[in-house]
This record gives sequence, C-alpha cells and structure tokens, in this order.
Amino acid sequence: MSAVFGIDFGTSNSALSVARDGEVALLNVDPQNPISNSLKSILYFLKEDGRTRSFVGYEGVSQYIDNEAEGRYMQSIKTFLPDTGFEKTAIYGKTYTLEELISIFLVKMKERGQVLIDEEVDHLVLGRPVIFSRDSEREDIARERLLRAAQIAGFKEITFQMEPIAAALAYEKTLPPGNEEIVLVGDFGAGSSDFTIHKAGGLKTGAREQDILSVGGVYIGGDNFDSRIMREKVAAYYGKDVTVKSMFSDNETGLSPLVIRKLMQWHHIPQLRRPRTLNNIKELKVNAGFKDKKLLTNLENLIHSNYGYLLFRAIEKAKCDLSGQDSAKIRFSDYDIDIDEAILRREFQSMIRKEAALIDACIDETLAGAGLGPDDIDVVFLTGGSSYIPLIRSIFETKIGAGKIRTADAFTSVAYGLGLYGSMLN
Ligand SMILES: Nc1ncnc2c1ncn2[C@@H]1O[C@H](COP(=O)(O)OP(=O)(O)OP(=O)(O)O)[C@@H](O)[C@H]1O
Ligand SMILES: [Mg+2]
Repeated sequence: MSAVFGIDFGTSNSALSVARDGEVALLNVDPQNPISNSLKSILYFLKEDGRTRSFVGYEGVSQYIDNEAEGRYMQSIKTFLPDTGFEKTAIYGKTYTLEELISIFLVKMKERGQVLIDEEVDHLVLGRPVIFSRDSEREDIARERLLRAAQIAGFKEITFQMEPIAAALAYEKTLPPGNEEIVLVGDFGAGSSDFTIHKAGGLKTGAREQDILSVGGVYIGGDNFDSRIMREKVAAYYGKDVTVKSMFSDNETGLSPLVIRKLMQWHHIPQLRRPRTLNNIKELKVNAGFKDKKLLTNLENLIHSNYGYLLFRAIEKAKCDLSGQDSAKIRFSDYDIDIDEAILRREFQSMIRKEAALIDACIDETLAGAGLGPDDIDVVFLTGGSSYIPLIRSIFETKIGAGKIRTADAFTSVAYGLGLYGSMLN
C-alpha cells in the first residue's frame, strides 16, 4: 500500500503527517522550528545572482531578517483564498496566481516529506477550514484554489477533510477502545475558529461521516486579535489619532479610515505606498504640531522600510505572554521608534470581546446543529494556538464545564488527524 500524506496548511503554521503500513506519523519538515513537527506558513522570495529563490518556514524568516527586509515576504497566505480581489502578484517580474504561490509552499512540504520517508507520495489528505467564506461564490473559489494548488504541487489524488474533524480523529485516538463519547472539538488558529461535534469511539474504522453530528466555523482567529492590539495600543504611535486643522476650513482632518484599516494587518501596509496616500500624510504633516509630526514620520518610516512584520511579531509576543500572565509589554525599538506599552490581560479581553461573542454564538449554533445541549457534551477537545487564550477557554468552562476540557499538541493535532483519515481511506 502506498503512503498518503496529510497536510494541515495553516494560516500561520503548517504540518505534515504520513499514513503508511497502517501507521500514522508526523514528519519534522522544519528542524529549525522550536515547535516540533511544525512549519511556519511563510514564503520568502529573494533575488540572488539574477536568480529568484524561494524559502519557507524558519529559513524564510531568518533569510528575511538577515537580508534586512529585502525581497518579498508573505505570511497568512491562506487568508487570501476567498479574496476575489487577489488575482495575481508580481515577484521580481514574474506573475504568480495565489494557487501558484501556495503550490510553492506545498511542494516544499511534499519534497521534504518524501526525503524523510524515502518514498514518492502522490495521494494527499488536505485540511480545510469548515468555512472559507459565508459568500457561496467565494467559498467555491477558495476551495477550488486550494485544490488547484495541491494539483500544481504534484499531488494526483487529493481528498479534503475539515480541520476540526481531523482534530476530532486525533483526540479519538487517545481513547481506550470501546469508549464512546460525544466530543466538541474547538480548533482556534490564526485565521479561523472551527468546531465539530463528533461521536468518538475507540473501535471504529472507515470514513466515519455518520459520526459527525455537526460542524461550524467563523473566520476569526489569532490574526484578528493581533489587529485589535495594534488598533488599541500601537497605532497611536503611527498617527492614528492625529487631527490637524484643515488649511481651507475649520474642519479637522486626520488619516483616512482606509489608511488606518490597512495598518491593522501588516501584510496590507505595503499597499500604503501609493503616491496619493503618501501625499496625504505629507499634507497632514505640514500643519501638524511637533509631536504629531513625529508620529506621522513614524508612519512614513513604517511604510518605506516595510518593517510591519517585525512590529506585529512584537504584538503577537505580548498576546502570547498574556495567556500565561496578567500583564505584558509590547516592546519595539528599531527604525527610529521606541514602543514600550504595557497591556493587561483584562484590557486584551475587552479588546476581543466582540470576536469572543461571535465565537460563542458559533459554538451555540454548532450545538444546535447537532440537536444537543451543553450537558450532552462529554468532552471538549481544544487545539490550535489561540486555544491557549484564557478568554477562549473560559467560554467552554462556563458553557460546558472546566472538568470536561482536554488538550493535546495545539499545533499538530490537525495534521495527525488528517494522517489518520488517510489511513482509513486505504
Ligand atoms: N500562547 C499563546 N497564546 C495566545 N495565542 C497563541 C499562543 N500561541 C500561539 N498563538 C496564536 O495561535 C495562532 C497560530 O495557531 P495555529 O498554528 O493553530 O494556527 P493555524 O493552523 O496556522 O491557523 P488556521 O487553522 O486558522 O489556518 C497565531 O495567531 C498565534 O499568535
Ligand atoms: Mg489550524
């Protein structure tokens, strides 16, 4: 029987598993990564000696930093799947579709995995979120693009499986044979939060669709939480609140809401390089006071030096610190700016209250979809990096009960479950 790969292509982390000879194993495709068996979902292009080279994972991050933000660095690529506005992008004069970019990433995973198991693999179980978009046209486009990316990467047989269902299979594997439980799985990633309610039992085999009682998902994840911190704590350093008296009237003007919106996602910051936006900032500076001028200069530096990635890394670090402690610091001092902002867990929780409410409602919908109430759930299985956030956990503690919560490896459960699914297909 030939091997099957399982790929969890995540918004910020990806992982690869293999199913062969009745066994499933995770493959360590990025030994440099401190999170074992995980590969950062980033792509980095650099032109060297007339040749464009591409990098992924930790190597990509260190190349990007070593080359002082030269080249093209891309993160959260998965987020663009349902984005009909993204058609093509040019990198060093060559245009790539989104599916071509993703395929470059998938090819690296495929090749590294093949080396590790010393076998060519063309059968893939590919994870996907429960929903890409509420809009059915975008939903179809996203699915089609992901499929196409896997085809371009050289996979001949491709089977999709939903990420939270894969996580449910990984949890099920830990149960003693014969134990039957109703499990609510929550997978909290960087881009989406996905749920499934699943009848888990240690002895079952086969494709198991009948045991999936309900699925649900929202396109909210850790990236959104980082954006909130940016808006509330950091964007003021870049002139978010600057208002300047207009030269022609008594009106006060400031940065446009569109500019501020672009600031909230680091990979959108390069879009602010348009001459119109840059002129706008320049005009505001003319009439701004000394302090405000400096803030607008910070914004210009951010746009020109394109260091948004490093800034958001500092934000993400503070967010992760808040999962284990009551307060944290957002620290960034480089590129002629010095940010040292305290953030309390309490503040962070109120920043993401709206997102948490949407997640809460989605869990209720998923329960309703299964025709079950909170008391019917035997176990809650939480996975994904954002499941470390105490506020997210507390939703389940309140609704289902703290004693029912189980966790496993937050970054590899989905990939492992995809491998388990692959072993059932054979
Ligand atoms: N300790 C922590 N506390 C809070 N958030 C964390 C922690 N560790 C990681 N995260 C967040 O978890 C997210 C990454 O989790 P994960 O790798 O599960 O996502 P993903 O699989 O890439 O995304 P998706 O499944 O949505 O495509 C990031 O937003 C990261 O900032
Ligand atoms: Mg994930």
